[in-house]
This record gives sequence, structure tokens and C-alpha cells, in this order.
Amino acid sequence: MAQLSIRSVSKSYGAVQVLDDVSVEVEEGSFVVLLGPSGCGKSTLLHAVAGLNPIDSGSIVIGDRNVTNLPARERDVAMVFQSYALYPTMTVAQNIAFPLKMRGLDRRTSDEKVAGVARLLQIEPLLSRLPRELSGGQRQRVAIGRALVRDPRLFLFDEPLSNLDAALRTELRAEIKRLHQSIRRTMVYVTHDQTEALTLADKIVVLKAGKIEQTGTPLSLYDDPDNVFVAGFIGTPRMNFLKATVVDDGKALTAGEARVDITHLKARLDNGRTVTLGIRPEHLDEKEGVTLSLAVDVTERLGSTSYVHGALPSGETVVAERREDQPRFGETITLRFQPTRARIFDAEGNRIR
Ligand SMILES: Nc1ncnc2c1ncn2[C@@H]1O[C@H](COP(=O)(O)OP(=O)(O)OP(=O)(O)O)[C@@H](O)[C@H]1O
Ligand SMILES: [Mg+2]
Repeated sequence: MAQLSIRSVSKSYGAVQVLDDVSVEVEEGSFVVLLGPSGCGKSTLLHAVAGLNPIDSGSIVIGDRNVTNLPARERDVAMVFQSYALYPTMTVAQNIAFPLKMRGLDRRTSDEKVAGVARLLQIEPLLSRLPRELSGGQRQRVAIGRALVRDPRLFLFDEPLSNLDAALRTELRAEIKRLHQSIRRTMVYVTHDQTEALTLADKIVVLKAGKIEQTGTPLSLYDDPDNVFVAGFIGTPRMNFLKATVVDDGKALTAGEARVDITHLKARLDNGRTVTLGIRPEHLDEKEGVTLSLAVDVTERLGSTSYVHGALPSGETVVAERREDQPRFGETITLRFQPTRARIFDAEGNRIR
């Protein structure tokens, strides 16, 4: 049974529709990420689940209860925000214990629970400090601790790592994953960072302008995107998109000088039709396949691999991963890819399979 069902939820602020018929099923114990660019409605949706924001239509079901019209405190969810929202005059221990105090829990049980959470998050040495005596990462751990101690049925995270520097973000990301694996509670996590989504999620929901673009496992979104938006949003560096034309009675595409066999597609395409060919940087470093000639502009070296930026004869820019050599500015190199690695999209950006 789904632990959380978001059913046909819509919401407008004045004339602006912020959520448009959004439905998401979150299985018990799973980790679901709501992913999308700034302003797409992620926080609005999460707040609607938490009961901090009324919705115009649709319903929200947690467990077997329809909570659509229940206030936040009756929903048994805990939320962790981007800004840590700690009480500045309380110590770490008092901050974590606060929800228990509100619940009227006795001191001894409360102390035990705080100690347990502190151990789990490795913040035991910090318990007597004030929030201002903590680093950003430590503050966010405390905020997570305050959510954990409530032992809710559902955890909601709204970009909890976005105020942290890159190294700390990676570290805390792994800790959240570990935490989920150890407590196996249902978590819904909002981010605009596709790397966070790919690394954390069992299931990703991609949102754009209040609408769901695609829902799926990280691998299915990466490998089998439904449209140009998802293809471009998932994966870094992003997928390259080239203009292409259908030739040979629908058996192939031409993209500049390249001819790409598309007989593996189920769809029948008319000669002369214009489509978009998408190919990921990591799929351009094959030994055999369709060739593209790239005039190298910049090479970024990342140790074990490099990303080469350059232009095709058509003028289209391309980023290609390169594992064995590191071509320089001014060189022309040959890229190769397997036609079955290419993803084809129609003029509206929808995938052709
Ligand atoms: N109280 C409000 N009144 C009017 N418009 C609002 C209000 N809150 C949010 N919006 C608008 O709703 C849209 C979605 O906002 P929301 O905060 O859900 O986006 P988001 O996906 O969380 O973005 P970000 O990644 O920047 O946090 C935005 O266009 C925003 O301007
Ligand atoms: Mg937001």
C-alpha cells in the first residue's frame, strides 16, 4: 500500500497555476524525490503534503487517512527545511527535544530519545552548544535530528543541503541515504539538483511549471526519458541535442554529415521530417559507430576522464567524454557513437520510440 498518495492536486496563486493535476504514489519505506527547476512548484507541493498550504482541488492521503482537510499537526509528518529553522537561544539538545516537550513526554524518555538521535547523526559532542556555534552542516544535522526524534510516519525534506558547500553536501547526502537505509521510513525529498535525485531516490518525479513531466526510477529517467526536458535535466554534463532529418524511407537520420540508422525504432517516420537527436557525452567515446567530427574548443580534465567541448561542422556545440586522450584547443577529433544510444524526439520535444 502507498504510504502517501497525492491525487490530482491543483493549486493556483491568483491567475498563476502552480500545481496542475499532480498525482504521485509514494510506497511505504521508499525514498521519492521531487525534482525540477526553481519555481516549478516543488515546495508548494511539499507544503501541501505537510498541511502548511491549502490546495484548490485533489486530495492527499497518508496511510489510510484522507488528510486533505486536516491541520499540519494532525498529519504525523516531520519536515526539514532548507533554512535550518533552529531556535537560536536553545542548545542543540533542547532544539532536538523540543517536539517531545511539546508532546509532554517525560524528561527521562526525552533525554534517551535525544541521545539516540544524536548518536545516529554523530552530533553527540555538540549537544550543549547553541546553533550559532555550529557549522551549516552541523545545523542541518540538528534540524534532521529534530525531525527524527518525532518518529513520524513520513519525512519531508525541502532542499536540506542547498545552503552547504559542495563537499559537505556530498557527505550529508550520503548520510541521509544511510539514515534512510537504517530506519526505512518513507521520505519525500525536494531538490533542483539532479545528482542528488539520482543518488538518493528510489523514484524520481520530474516537475516543470507545476506539471509532472515523468515519474520513474533514476535509471529509467536517465536511460529512457519521455521528452527533451527530462533528457536534458537528468545527467551531467547534459545530453547533446542535434538537429536531424529523416531519410531513406524512414530507415535513417542525417545529422550534419552523419548518417544514423534508426531501424531499431518502432515508430515509422516520414522522409524529410525534422527531429532532434539526443546523445549523451559519455556515449560519444566508442571504438566504432557513427562518426562526428568535432573542432575542439576547451577540454576539462577530471582526472580519470575529460570533457571536451567543441563544435560540429554544422556549428552545433557538443560536449563529449574522452577517456584516453585529452585533445587541445584547435584540434579536430572524431567522436563515435552507437545509433541505439541515440534518443530521438519530435518537434514538440516528445520522445519517438
Ligand atoms: N505565496 C505565494 N503567492 C504567490 N505566488 C507564489 C507563492 N508561493 C509560491 N508562489 C509561486 O509559485 C511558484 C512555485 O513556487 P515554489 O516555491 O513551489 O517553487 P519551487 O519549485 O520550490 O522553487 P525553488 O527551487 O526556487 O524553491 C513560483 O512561481 C512562485 O513564485
Ligand atoms: Mg522551493
